[in-house]
Amino acid sequence: MADKFYITTPIYYVNARPHVGHAYTTLVCDAMARRKRMLGVDTFFLTGTDEHGQKIERSAADAGVTPRELTDRVSGEFRALWDRMKISYDDYIRTTEARHARGVQEMFRRIRDNGFIYKGSYTGQYCVYDELYVDAAGAGALCPECGRPTETVSEENYFFKLSAFEDKLLRLYTEQADFIRPETRRNEVITFVRSGLRDLSISRSSISWGIPVPDDPQHVIYVWLDALSNYCTALGFGSPEPKDQQRFARYWPADVHMIGKEIVRFHCVYWPAFLMAAKLPLPRSIIAHGWLLFEESKMSKSRGNIVHPQTVLDVLGNDALRYFLLREVVFGQDGGFSFDALVQRYNSDLANDLGNLASRTLTMIARYFRGEVPYPSSAATRTPADEAIARTAQETITAFGRLWDDYQFSRALEAAWGLVAAVNKYLVENSPWAVAEKGDDESRARLATILYTSAEALRVVTALVHPAIPEATARIWTQLGLGEIAQFRLSALQWGQLQLGTKLGPVEGVFPRADKSVIERMLEMERERSKPAAPPADTQAGQPATQAAVGLAPAAPAPTATATTESRISIDDFAKVEMRVGQIKVAEKVKGADKLLRLEVDIGTEVRQVVAGIAEAYAPETLIGRKVVVVVNLQARKLRGVESNGMIVAASVGEKGTPVLAGFLEDVPVGAKLK
Ligand code: MSP
Repeated sequence: MADKFYITTPIYYVNARPHVGHAYTTLVCDAMARRKRMLGVDTFFLTGTDEHGQKIERSAADAGVTPRELTDRVSGEFRALWDRMKISYDDYIRTTEARHARGVQEMFRRIRDNGFIYKGSYTGQYCVYDELYVDAAGAGALCPECGRPTETVSEENYFFKLSAFEDKLLRLYTEQADFIRPETRRNEVITFVRSGLRDLSISRSSISWGIPVPDDPQHVIYVWLDALSNYCTALGFGSPEPKDQQRFARYWPADVHMIGKEIVRFHCVYWPAFLMAAKLPLPRSIIAHGWLLFEESKMSKSRGNIVHPQTVLDVLGNDALRYFLLREVVFGQDGGFSFDALVQRYNSDLANDLGNLASRTLTMIARYFRGEVPYPSSAATRTPADEAIARTAQETITAFGRLWDDYQFSRALEAAWGLVAAVNKYLVENSPWAVAEKGDDESRARLATILYTSAEALRVVTALVHPAIPEATARIWTQLGLGEIAQFRLSALQWGQLQLGTKLGPVEGVFPRADKSVIERMLEMERERSKPAAPPADTQAGQPATQAAVGLAPAAPAPTATATTESRISIDDFAKVEMRVGQIKVAEKVKGADKLLRLEVDIGTEVRQVVAGIAEAYAPETLIGRKVVVVVNLQARKLRGVESNGMIVAASVGEKGTPVLAGFLEDVPVGAKLK
């Protein structure tokens, strides 16, 4: 078994205040780190904030403060929230710290000295929101990642020879099969790299809020090279101090970089390439989780649909938020957040199931055995029901570990709650409260066995789920008379370790039931906390583009005026056109046709082949994964011998009718109908 475990969260941009989406990433890492520590593994858990770049520079200007003021304030807010959530981070890195700048410059120097950096000039599109250079798109084109308009950048830059790493990266993904998880993300990355890598601009001369390029301070280092390096600089990379160098040597490479699915490319393509170029070891795995949705779209500041973790902490507490997110979201997939579901989970799983098990068991031991864990009767007199609980507990220990180590947190917790349910049922069926009425020796022995069995099962569950819900479990542990739960070694956990005669601590309830009014209270608090949602400054509003379709027919010329009243169609006519959200899975040029691309588009019910006249505006590789609008009920036609089963909707812009694909600012499910 590995003797160390280094886990990181992404570092959070400080242009937005922390929301439940950020909290999710952080608490998953925290739960993983806690379990590793309980297993006795030397663990280092890093989080922090990403504070440079054009996006932050602009947010500060918009807020009328200096970048330094903005970053200090928001970074402090993130940290305060993590402290309130008892996040057990070992270090908190800020990219504006001197130790980080020194390390990033060292990274740049190493890559340059190894021959992977050259000077060139760049003219192309840049998405400030994603801090991403966007390939092969014309002026005004939308970012393929977020759909916002890109800006044209024309500068002399330093370039990183990313193209030199294509084969090495593909070999890495094959040889280290669990380098990227889950599998869907791995496949996306492989498709992206296979479609060819271009060299990457890694400096900017038109902005100043960043880390200067060594020996050429007119340029600042590209924010993603700066940000990704935090995983090394926080450990001491680039420091002359021996203790820093030792820490770096001890913990690098990272065992897990936990990220959201939208930043996979930066972590799985750019980051390993930078590290290879710097001749540094590569991380062991990059784990991408899905998004938390609120009101069915990705929770994010620009959409104005965020939930503040503080609201849940104020009303239901830290464990409620943690348990809900770990139990409700299937890790790796998108998951919805709702106050209704939160309260329901809290009441059923925490207040009812675990809370009741703890309070009944502990109260009865206090009452019938003066607060000391009783002796169970000899093996010969134990019933099959007693043995079944012991067996289930032992199986749960194994299953929980297996599922948790496979990032199936929800199923691991489900397994633990399976044990809770079994013990609650056992208590009902064996009615210790009725047995206690009898008072004869045999009944007393029976009572002792029942209460020992349920207390021991409670101990097992409490130890297992401590990394997920640390506060309540610490209290249950103390009530069981076992002291500090953090000192307990999970690797030794097995049935039967609860010592007879253990003196219980004072018994108190851990999860008071929540009534319906808490939902309204939380909604009210959210209303108070959220400023009125202003339309995001960076939407496409006001673009002079009109809707047209590209696909079977060449792009239609842009109409000069909207239809007159006479020529308008009825709603029934419109309803004949069936449009759905599709996601492009495959895109390639049609041989011998400059304008056409052959696309395979997932429309929810099937994958359709569509031929679209967009090849001059979009490079095929930029389209993979993109969500588009598809007219799905058109008759099939052949274009250049290739059958097309639908049409992709796009605006037709300018004199040449340049196609601009219609898309959505919110995340929409594939197959959703447009009407
Ligand atoms: N600064 C970059 C990361 C650099 S890492 C070297 C960044 N920051 S971010 O603040 O925009 O997002 C950071 C992380 O927050 C995401 O990767 C994701 O883990 C998490 N989330 C932000 N919104 C989220 C949801 N709505 N749902 C789940 N996670 C979300 O990207």
